[in-house]
Amino acid sequence: MNMKQHDSIRAVVWRDDSLFLLDQRILPQQQQFIELRNARDTANAIRDMVVRGAPAIGIAAAYGVVLAAREHYRNSPQSWKKQIQIDLKILAESRPTAVNLFWALENMQQCIANIESDPFPILLKQAEKIYQDDIAANYTMGRLGASLINNDGRAVLTHCNTGSLATGGFGTALGVIRQSFIDKKISAVYADETRPWLQGARLTAWELVQDKIPVTLLCEGAAASLMRQGKVSWVIVGSDRIAANGDVANKIGTYSLAVNARHHGVKFMVVAPTTTVDMNIASGEQIPIEQRATDEVLACGGKRIAAEGAAAWNPAFDVTPAELVDVIITENGIVQNPTLQKMQDMMRGKPV
Ligand code: MRU
Repeated sequence: MNMKQHDSIRAVVWRDDSLFLLDQRILPQQQQFIELRNARDTANAIRDMVVRGAPAIGIAAAYGVVLAAREHYRNSPQSWKKQIQIDLKILAESRPTAVNLFWALENMQQCIANIESDPFPILLKQAEKIYQDDIAANYTMGRLGASLINNDGRAVLTHCNTGSLATGGFGTALGVIRQSFIDKKISAVYADETRPWLQGARLTAWELVQDKIPVTLLCEGAAASLMRQGKVSWVIVGSDRIAANGDVANKIGTYSLAVNARHHGVKFMVVAPTTTVDMNIASGEQIPIEQRATDEVLACGGKRIAAEGAAAWNPAFDVTPAELVDVIITENGIVQNPTLQKMQDMMRGKPV
């Protein structure tokens, strides 16, 4: 396993020809892996938030395709390519916003098209490649993002969880934060608790505490006051899908952070691999936003907290317009003040 300093957690593990996912619903109180035996169970695990975070969802889905291929090839070596299409569809229907899911399924589908023998070893190798490429991209983005942080004594603010749990390892926004800490450019991190799933309070805080990076939690409603007091120089977040014009979909609450950051003169950085960029979508308006169950808002820890009779609105993501984004970091480079042209150049690997 490819692990370096400040990178000790893996949420997706392939061991003894089986897929194991660290159950992120019960972290940090319990650290328990769930074994997945087929693509249907993998799709359910993605939908139910056992695994979450755009790149980790894509990686888990790729392994789900490996499980599906093994099952169908065993049952019917002649028609497995036809049978597996049902599983690809089930996996694609698990969550709608993170484009990494669809990117990974398309990548595996292209691999399937060229297979003439037992698909298992070939698809397993491809899933491993998706996994390892994601970790490598995170290290590159960590260095690029940290190069923009000044050692001015101020902290940074992040939202949701974008660390090893949300990716192959190291993380996107949290990778930049980890690298900035290693480089002694920051000494403290503020993390929004991130209602309703509390990815900040449960997952980001857990990762940072293990790394001995000082972390202070706040309710996202406190972020504007934090900025007004001059405590943070950057807001650093990940993304689930970036449109061709640089509009960014991310965990609900990100947009209000961007509005507040601009108002207070705080810089706003988005860190995401190219597998999160959807050049087929012109703007954020076309990004499908997942609506989740109202119980996630009305209850907490399985206990109803809202007044009986109240309804709830529970979009899992929002869209931050490109004009509020100071910089997008991918493994291909740094895009300042994103535009369509700059995003196209970055995706082609041209200097931006
Ligand atoms: O609902 P989640 O927990 O899957 O949402 C995750 C996020 O919004 C992350 O910020 C995003 O996937 C980037 S993770 C590297």
